[in-house]
Amino acid sequence: MSKRIVFTGGSGKAGRHVVPYLLDRGHKVLNLDLVPLADSRVNTLLTDVTNSGEVFNALSMHFGFDGYETGKGPAPVDAVVHFAAVPRVLMRPDNTTFAANVTSTYNVIEAAVKLGIRKVIIASSETTYGVCFAEGDKDYHSFPLEEDYDIDPMDSYGLSKLVNEKTARAFAMRSGIDIYALRIGNVIEPHEYERFPGFFADPPSRKRNAWSYIDARDLGQIVDLCVAKDGLGFQVFNAVNDTITAHEPTQEFLAKWAPNTPLTRPMQGNEAPLSNRKIREVLGFKEEHDWRKYVPAEG
Ligand SMILES: NC(=O)c1ccc[n+]([C@@H]2O[C@H](COP(=O)([O-])OP(=O)(O)OC[C@H]3O[C@@H](n4cnc5c(N)ncnc54)[C@H](O)[C@@H]3O)[C@@H](O)[C@H]2O)c1
Repeated sequence: MSKRIVFTGGSGKAGRHVVPYLLDRGHKVLNLDLVPLADSRVNTLLTDVTNSGEVFNALSMHFGFDGYETGKGPAPVDAVVHFAAVPRVLMRPDNTTFAANVTSTYNVIEAAVKLGIRKVIIASSETTYGVCFAEGDKDYHSFPLEEDYDIDPMDSYGLSKLVNEKTARAFAMRSGIDIYALRIGNVIEPHEYERFPGFFADPPSRKRNAWSYIDARDLGQIVDLCVAKDGLGFQVFNAVNDTITAHEPTQEFLAKWAPNTPLTRPMQGNEAPLSNRKIREVLGFKEEHDWRKYVPAEG
């Protein structure tokens, strides 16, 4: 069913694939970003999501000129997808990264709740699992990484995403709306599969991403499934593809490259250490972009 979706950060690396996926599924999208998205099907409203007043306004506006034709004012918004952020460490000073991400997520969720919007999807991160931006070589507590893991980031970016999950949980409890937090893995755009042979040649280099990834287009499918699935309240979902970014079976690979980390259950075949079992079982996710389609076979 076609929904009216406000998407923040749609002009960025992930958004420029996720927004077209949603448009192709028949949804109407308004993009809130500091810079325009180059897609003639979607209007970008230049909005600073760290400014609560701007967010409240942007969530109660027409999506485009056609809205004026109805004579009934702006139509209701069905869902808000919040991707805008400082997306990693070392882009802005740590305090600015933390403040921008925590404030913008608070603003977006609060405005959605207070304006009566019943579905919010926010971008959390693999970094909450604590290894991505850790000081030094930190081991994961256990594999697979599933949503009930005791997340413990030490960096300001990962901490901002952890706080955002708590903000989401608080507002979901307060309001009864659905707020789904996606712990997004390392986002891979179509042209980036050329990096994979380098990943295979240097396995320790991918420990910080738990040897997992999410194709930017498959992330579009996950967001679309979240838009469609109502009634789950507050949820955390790992957003990653099915398999490990290595040629060896997962258990064999982890025994070699993560020997100090115990397994909490047997790992099947090539399943990704950052597990996507929950999105497959709860949302019905079926990956379309296995890296093996795009990376030449070994040998
Ligand atoms: N890229 C990854 O591998 C990855 C992994 C895990 C989580 N994430 C998360 O996914 C989301 C998208 O990441 P991305 O890689 O596309 O990042 P990106 O930086 O490419 O895109 C973010 C977009 O948000 C916009 N933005 C930033 N601050 C804003 C503000 N104050 N107001 C309005 N717009 C603002 C930027 O202009 C940009 O277009 C982020 O929340 C990020 O933290 C990304």
